[in-house]
Amino acid sequence: MTEKLIIQGGRALEGSVEIAGAKNSALPLIAATLLTDGEILLENVPRLDDVQTMLDMVSELGKSVKNTGSDTVRIAGSVSSNVAPVELVRKMRASFLVLAPLVGRTGRAEVPLPGGCNIGTRPVNLHLEGLKKLGVEINQDDGKIIAEADNLKGNDIFLDYPSVGATEQLLMAAVRARGTTTIYNGAQEPEIRDLASFLTELGADLSLDGSILTATGEKKLGDAEYEVLSDRIAAGTYMIAGVATGGNVEVRSVDPASIKPLSLKLRKAGITVEEGEKTIKVKSNGRPDNLEVITLPFPGFPTDLQAPISSMLTLAEGKSVVKETVFDSRFGHVAELSKMGADISVTNSNTVFIEGTDNLRGTAVEATDIRAGAALVIAGLAGEGRTEVSGLSHLDRGYSQLQSKLESLGATVERVDSDG
Ligand code: UD1
Repeated sequence: MTEKLIIQGGRALEGSVEIAGAKNSALPLIAATLLTDGEILLENVPRLDDVQTMLDMVSELGKSVKNTGSDTVRIAGSVSSNVAPVELVRKMRASFLVLAPLVGRTGRAEVPLPGGCNIGTRPVNLHLEGLKKLGVEINQDDGKIIAEADNLKGNDIFLDYPSVGATEQLLMAAVRARGTTTIYNGAQEPEIRDLASFLTELGADLSLDGSILTATGEKKLGDAEYEVLSDRIAAGTYMIAGVATGGNVEVRSVDPASIKPLSLKLRKAGITVEEGEKTIKVKSNGRPDNLEVITLPFPGFPTDLQAPISSMLTLAEGKSVVKETVFDSRFGHVAELSKMGADISVTNSNTVFIEGTDNLRGTAVEATDIRAGAALVIAGLAGEGRTEVSGLSHLDRGYSQLQSKLESLGATVERVDSDG
């Protein structure tokens, strides 16, 4: 069944929205359950297609997975297979994260090279080079990585780029390696800290000092009850939607520090941003001012909010420039926003030029990846008339209860079967 989101735009979003657990934390945490035979109770797990894919993955590899509540999952049992099913890895790039836990636990892993979002080439060289440093032999056969190691040995690893996935992969390998591993120039995203504190809860010996991560491995890992960090990207998306529609939106259950790069940019654009202990309120004061934005690894401006903020800036006063430096082709939203009347273009040096307009008009648009989808929903909410967003499978990977949350903020959004 093909579905579409039908948005009647032009209403300012008003109200407060609860933010669920972070997809980008839940995924590595679920992969990390392969490191222990203990019983894990994960709380604040977002109900998303990507999370289900990772749960299916650990279940295929031998784990018993039981939903014990609307956002809690119990994962227990041991690993019985070290061959990751191709269809699950092709569905979602993050399933590649089972490589290190599998080779660390069983001495061998067979994991197909990943698929994932249409946002440019996404190699795994940093994952593989790091694992080799820890004594893992890597071979490639017929689109699969075959990793083998009798014992992992701690070592110093320098990452040429602070890749989120590679840092997570190597942290999970490091807790199984004999001796000490130090990762230099590791990623510093809040989701990395969440994985590190989950591993510590399991009994691992880890310390984080900015971009330097140290683990002393080979400790036996046990049980844990752990609450997944809140989704700063979902929070940022609702904040941006509030501003783009000229409204007032509060996001709840989110750490304001995790989304500071956005809050500070919004203030620069003339928006009132009030931070509480676990809440952020944004209040528009007319059209936002233009901005210059450059995406960078944390604590830089998150690439996952590049498309949403570009969408907001199509309605700002004046000219904005948004430069994407993390991914090489993450602009699926640009052509679609143009269809809605936005004055937006992208150069081949990954820079988006936007001339703000006072109006977007609803039309049929297609989400090409998760965050491009969010950008189009924002444009639909802020624009005039009816916007039909197709490609909802992308949005379902990343935003839990999107429709009901938007409705609770006063939006008119309907999900319809476009075949019927
Ligand atoms: C994660 C997030 C994604 C976010 C991204 C950057 C998850 C599930 N996804 O993706 O939402 O947009 O971080 O914040 O957490 N690279 C290499 N070689 C490698 C690994 C990465 O060249 O071995 C490059 C990638 O092609 C990309 C850049 O590094 O250009 C960043 O990728 P990375 O930080 O690894 O992102 P992901 O972990 O895939």
